[in-house]
Amino acid sequence: MAEKKIIAVVGATGAQGGGLVRAIVGDVKSGFTARALTRNANSDKAKQLAQRGAEVVAADVDDAESLKKAFAGAYGAFCVTFFWEHFSPEKEFTQAKAMAEAAKHTGLKHVIWSTFEDPRKWVPLGDNRMPTLMGKHKVPHFEGKSEADQVFRELGVPTTFLLTSFYWENMIYFGMGPKKGPDGTLAITLPMGDKKLPGVATEDIGKCALGIFKKGREFIGKTVGVAGEHLTGTQMAAALAKALGQEVRYNDVPPEVYRGFGFPGAEDLGNMFQFKRDFEHVYCGARNLEVARALNPSLQTFDAWLAQNKDRIPLE
Ligand SMILES: NC(=O)c1ccc[n+]([C@@H]2O[C@H](COP(=O)([O-])OP(=O)(O)OC[C@H]3O[C@@H](n4cnc5c(N)ncnc54)[C@H](OP(=O)(O)O)[C@@H]3O)[C@@H](O)[C@H]2O)c1
Repeated sequence: MAEKKIIAVVGATGAQGGGLVRAIVGDVKSGFTARALTRNANSDKAKQLAQRGAEVVAADVDDAESLKKAFAGAYGAFCVTFFWEHFSPEKEFTQAKAMAEAAKHTGLKHVIWSTFEDPRKWVPLGDNRMPTLMGKHKVPHFEGKSEADQVFRELGVPTTFLLTSFYWENMIYFGMGPKKGPDGTLAITLPMGDKKLPGVATEDIGKCALGIFKKGREFIGKTVGVAGEHLTGTQMAAALAKALGQEVRYNDVPPEVYRGFGFPGAEDLGNMFQFKRDFEHVYCGARNLEVARALNPSLQTFDAWLAQNKDRIPLE
């Protein structure tokens, strides 16, 4: 029997990487095994991955040597950065560069880099429809990632550029679920107007990534966007209402109001949603549902995700 190919997974105890590790260990015929990278191999999450059959290896994306060791002997790697831990596009770029260099150094055959498009292609810095942030960004948490694409290209790393979508889990972990308004009715607040927001179950990002590794060469050098469904705020509210058995409204606020909410990252997210709203065709067009479903036939719709997860959404 042919030896299985090792996929080194960065962020293995997190959302995207965790989904990929579970997808690999859950698909014994895939031809791949998972090497889960973590800063703490003794954490409960790391131990759970080991119990499921992953090889757990210590690595830190801030430590280039640890990445080289962790990538050594692998066929491929899944690379992701963690903007919301530090809010620095420069740090994301540096971490992505370290991963690209480690991939080059160890001669990996296929890397998936979890990135985003650069909104400044459509909204240049001089365009005042949204404020410039940090002096040179419109959507900082997209642009550090996007700038790093070039490093993978210049080093000649065989890379698939993966464009992800809004996690529906943001309603569980990121405070974006329905909240009660002054009249006691639940509402989701998004500055999307009547435009569609591509969304996805995080577990499906990992399954799509496994689909990309299985296809191999066909996807090297390509950019692939994944989403489970493209839905308007009104459609998301209706799906939530049906799942939760109570009224949920869509509170459509202007992006400038969203930017002023004051939580860390509100301006970045306000600009992000405005980009998705104002360039709906570009953003949805880059996340073709049929492509995602071909990579991952069990891709969930929002209704399907809600059926499994509605009780995990914190309601006041
Ligand atoms: N929220 C959304 O809707 C959304 C949508 C698309 C894309 N994104 C992007 O997703 C990215 C984050 O990915 P995620 O959601 O999968 O992350 P996550 O769930 O927050 O998990 C991150 C994991 O990475 C590990 N990690 C953190 N810092 C590390 C470091 N220095 N070296 C090695 N490992 C480290 C941590 O594991 P250990 O503690 O075990 O090391 C942690 O479990 C962000 O950059 C964000 O922009 C978010």
